[in-house]
Amino acid sequence: MAHTHMLKLERRQPQEAYSVHRGRLTFAQSWMAHPLRVGAVAPSSRRLARLIASEITPASAPVLELGAGTGVFTRSLLGRGLREDQLILVECDPRFACLLEHDYPDAWVVQVDAARLSRLNIVDGELLGAVVSGLPLLSMAMRSRIAILQFAFRHMRPGASFYQFTYGLRCPVPRPVLERLGLKAARLGSTWLNTPPATVCRIRARRKPQFQVSGSAAETDLVVQQSVR
Ligand SMILES: C[S@@+](CC[C@H](N)C(=O)[O-])C[C@H]1O[C@@H](n2cnc3c(N)ncnc32)[C@H](O)[C@@H]1O
Repeated sequence: MAHTHMLKLERRQPQEAYSVHRGRLTFAQSWMAHPLRVGAVAPSSRRLARLIASEITPASAPVLELGAGTGVFTRSLLGRGLREDQLILVECDPRFACLLEHDYPDAWVVQVDAARLSRLNIVDGELLGAVVSGLPLLSMAMRSRIAILQFAFRHMRPGASFYQFTYGLRCPVPRPVLERLGLKAARLGSTWLNTPPATVCRIRARRKPQFQVSGSAAETDLVVQQSVR
């Protein structure tokens, strides 16, 4: 198994193989220093990276990537036709941030805790067409998850999506919390070809209810049902 994997690496371009090895080394170092914050034992697979970027097109620019790590999702976003200068890469770990700056010199790498983004002015002018997140949301405080979603949806175009990967079977933000934020989640797909197998959720703003009724409890129930659908 390990032998087959090495063969695959050797068949890639030497520069790509070097970049993969360097990424894995950095990942191992960061994981040993902060296992919970890194939240994974290995960088995401190319299959997961393709899945999470599968709905993104050049029209989605600019795109915000959260928890970019070694840049596995970044490479997939470029593969979807985006340019580096249309990407904002947020990463709190200095080792990863340094690697991203080296590998994607034209992208905007911001070394910051994603839960504190609202304190910075990183999305200036044009609204985001999508957010792709490799953050380990399940190991983050609910307060931080909410702050991240609020920031993202405040800066995204109407109808734009927030793509989040998870090792669980459900969206890492519980449904009642999503509903309170006016959001809904759907499963985009899953892959076994990742360590461990992973799922991608698409989070979107719920459509505004067509009839805003203020009045009796029965009418209010109707509005809630319409907006949940
Ligand atoms: C599961 S790894 C994913 C890395 C990469 N996207 C991949 O798929 O291989 C999670 C990444 O999120 C970063 N991270 C964790 N908490 C963060 C936070 N609060 N703000 C910004 N980045 C964070 C970690 O440093 C790590 O690079």
